[in-house]
Amino acid sequence: MRYVNKLIFTSDVLSSQMALNEMNSFLESDTFSGWIDGGVGVLSLQTSFIDTANMFIKNQAIFVRHICPVDFELEIKKDIDDIKQITDNKHNLIDKLDINKTFSIQTRLMSDTSFTYKASDVNKELANTLEKDGFNLDVKSPEQIVSIFITENLAFIGISLTKYNLSNWSGGEYKFRKDENLISRAEFKLLEAIDVFNLDFSEYKTGLDLGAAPGGWTKVLLKYNLDVVAVDPAELNPIIAKNPNVLHFKGLAQEYLKNNNKFDVIVNDMRMDVKESVALMGIAAEYLNSDGIAIMTLKLPTKKVQAITNNSITKLQSWYNIYGARQLFHNRSEVTVVLKKK
Ligand SMILES: C[S@@+](CC[C@H](N)C(=O)[O-])C[C@H]1O[C@@H](n2cnc3c(N)ncnc32)[C@H](O)[C@@H]1O
Repeated sequence: MRYVNKLIFTSDVLSSQMALNEMNSFLESDTFSGWIDGGVGVLSLQTSFIDTANMFIKNQAIFVRHICPVDFELEIKKDIDDIKQITDNKHNLIDKLDINKTFSIQTRLMSDTSFTYKASDVNKELANTLEKDGFNLDVKSPEQIVSIFITENLAFIGISLTKYNLSNWSGGEYKFRKDENLISRAEFKLLEAIDVFNLDFSEYKTGLDLGAAPGGWTKVLLKYNLDVVAVDPAELNPIIAKNPNVLHFKGLAQEYLKNNNKFDVIVNDMRMDVKESVALMGIAAEYLNSDGIAIMTLKLPTKKVQAITNNSITKLQSWYNIYGARQLFHNRSEVTVVLKKK
């Protein structure tokens, strides 16, 4: 086991270069040491992990999904003895863990590589031994996390408070339970956004869903007891269509946005050119109540992604304050932006 001062960052595999560019724009002295998996990179830190994490938070990184520290590196052989080696070194972890705070272990194994054990085996074994030492396990909302990333020959191990990891999910991989009543996978994007940006929908009563079909986002808004106008020329799923709290405007957003209604929540997941979608959000701003919230996905092209993201956000700032912008785990070639009225 050797002591190091590194950081592992994670992004969507197709956005890794953007994540790196983004970091380079606000981290001055830290150096990129290489990729250890698709969308998983390592930085050598010149300052503390906490100082660096604060830079990510302050600069509102969009493409970096998750960060964690690497405090130790341990040589491993990719066999079952690795788990024993990791638990045998638990005294190093105990020195850094706070006994008064709950903990969780988040292990990731390098993809496309065969291991004789699963990440969950490492989690279980190490959590068991730490619990025996009096530490309190809380897998769902831990206050501190032991992050472990295992490659062909090394285990990278680090401990941090959850709030510095940018996501409390292992590697930022936000997982939902299987849902038998899923209308569309797009539902996950809105649910993840509400959770990641910590949005409170309890006071909201009305919602406008632009590009609603088949109705996944509308379903989420209904879950928060909103009355929803669902705008889309395409059919809604029959379960959504017959819900008494849904009014389906079976036409284009451009047509609907000639009415004069006001809403507490406006969402836009329309499959359309990002510039056009942003321009429509300019018109939609007139439809948003003063303390309302708008959420949109920027559908990004394959080229000039960074510039287009930045230009879109700058344009949106003509009408809104940006509450948050992230490429979420459930976004593909998209960035989710949360907006409040100016
Ligand atoms: C990705 S889907 C939306 C999925 C939806 N959020 C869900 O959870 O089920 C994109 C939708 O945008 C709609 N769309 C594209 N252009 C539109 C426009 N100009 N006005 C309204 N809807 C539009 C498409 O018909 C399509 O149903």
